[in-house]
Amino acid sequence: MKNIGIIGAGHVGLVTAAGFSKLGNKVICCDNDKEKIKNLKNLLMPFYEPGLEEIVEEGVEKNLLIFTDSIYEVVENSEIIFIAVGTPPTEEGKADLSYVENVTVEIAKALTKIRNEKKGEKIYRLIVEKSTVPVLTSEWVKKTLQLLTPTGIEFDIAANPEFLREGSAINDFFYPYRIVIGVETERGKKIFEEIYKPINCPKIFTDIRSAELIKHASNSFLALKISYINAIANICEKVGADVEVVAEGMGLDKRIGKEFLKAGVGYGGSCFPKDVSAFINICEEFGYSFNLLKEVQKINHQQRELIIKKAKDLLWNLKEKTISIFGLSFKPNTDDIRESPAIDVINLLKKEKAILKCHDPKAIENMKKIFPDIFYSEDPYEASREAHLLIFLTEWEAFKTLDFKRIKEGMKLPYIIDGRNFLDFKSLKDLGFIYRGIGRKNE
Ligand code: UDX
Repeated sequence: MKNIGIIGAGHVGLVTAAGFSKLGNKVICCDNDKEKIKNLKNLLMPFYEPGLEEIVEEGVEKNLLIFTDSIYEVVENSEIIFIAVGTPPTEEGKADLSYVENVTVEIAKALTKIRNEKKGEKIYRLIVEKSTVPVLTSEWVKKTLQLLTPTGIEFDIAANPEFLREGSAINDFFYPYRIVIGVETERGKKIFEEIYKPINCPKIFTDIRSAELIKHASNSFLALKISYINAIANICEKVGADVEVVAEGMGLDKRIGKEFLKAGVGYGGSCFPKDVSAFINICEEFGYSFNLLKEVQKINHQQRELIIKKAKDLLWNLKEKTISIFGLSFKPNTDDIRESPAIDVINLLKKEKAILKCHDPKAIENMKKIFPDIFYSEDPYEASREAHLLIFLTEWEAFKTLDFKRIKEGMKLPYIIDGRNFLDFKSLKDLGFIYRGIGRKNE
């Protein structure tokens, strides 16, 4: 059992805190959002993540998981401190590292105070970057701590990037493909070996810079895979082939692998768009123009426009046509709408002056904050009534079992665009729908 501190109770921070407490460690999780901490103490989660609430509840009950808004409390009580604060994109698409810097300064202040209170005692802390940061951020963290902490405090810096996916974050914490640890001392390495001992997966120990790069390089590669298959989907449409079949044929080659070859409306979320952009920027700073990744971004953007093009191909003019959008979150099993394809598609349809009706199992409240003036319904049948066209942008399981006969009866025209290629188009066609997928041979 170790004393672990987590600074930042966002998706990464909170899941990591809950996970480590479930493994039997004593965890303090801190956030500067006092309201969020108050809610967490009352077991109210700040976002929806399957399985998270139960683990948090258990941790709090066993007194293994404590929430606080004080960084000092974290630093005082934890040998290992994970920095898991946001690194949101700046206007130029770089990673905004000011939160990481602020936290580093706060850690240094806390260490100074502890030094003054506990004179003569040995003080050691392992400070770990958990947030996704550009390569060489650790150098700044180290420099800042060295500059601001008094002598007599020992610390190691490490990078331990997180690869969890929203919606399956708990599972990804306990059963990851690998754990990447950038640490340059034996002392730091030993601590990681201990805290990750219960997790059975390959653990790779590297220098810190390589660990930082592994994160950006991995996420960008996955984004590249998605854009690649979307480019293939486009050529499929032009020549009358089926991207689902092509992806299956490609994916059976283990060197390619079948994951992340789902063509559709493109990637969204809090990671891929931000990380690809930050990676391009940091490469640029070091004199490398990563044009391949610029093309990945371009293709991803074109996939949103493709939906509008398909809508126009079906409806001619979109002005005053009623269009229903099902699926507002950036992917299923989450209420997260950050960089969701739905935001781009709604903006494009608003420009065309279409009348919009939206539905989602979890994300309506979040979307209302961005587009308060459009119609939403929790009831899919109400949300599709009078529609000329129904567009699916997220492959929620619940959508597959909708009563499509009932939906069709309520619609003005029987048009469906499946932006995720997940619906059974044969049965939809049998019901009389006109179906359009992405790169699918079915029209
Ligand atoms: C991603 C990474 O998978 C994770 O390792 C990292 O830590 C954070 O970023 P996440 O953003 O939660 O996780 O979602 P993910 O399941 O990877 O999907 C990202 C986006 O890509 C979604 O919008 C999804 O719909 C899209 N996607 C995914 C595709 O369009 N096609 C695919 O084949 C796979």
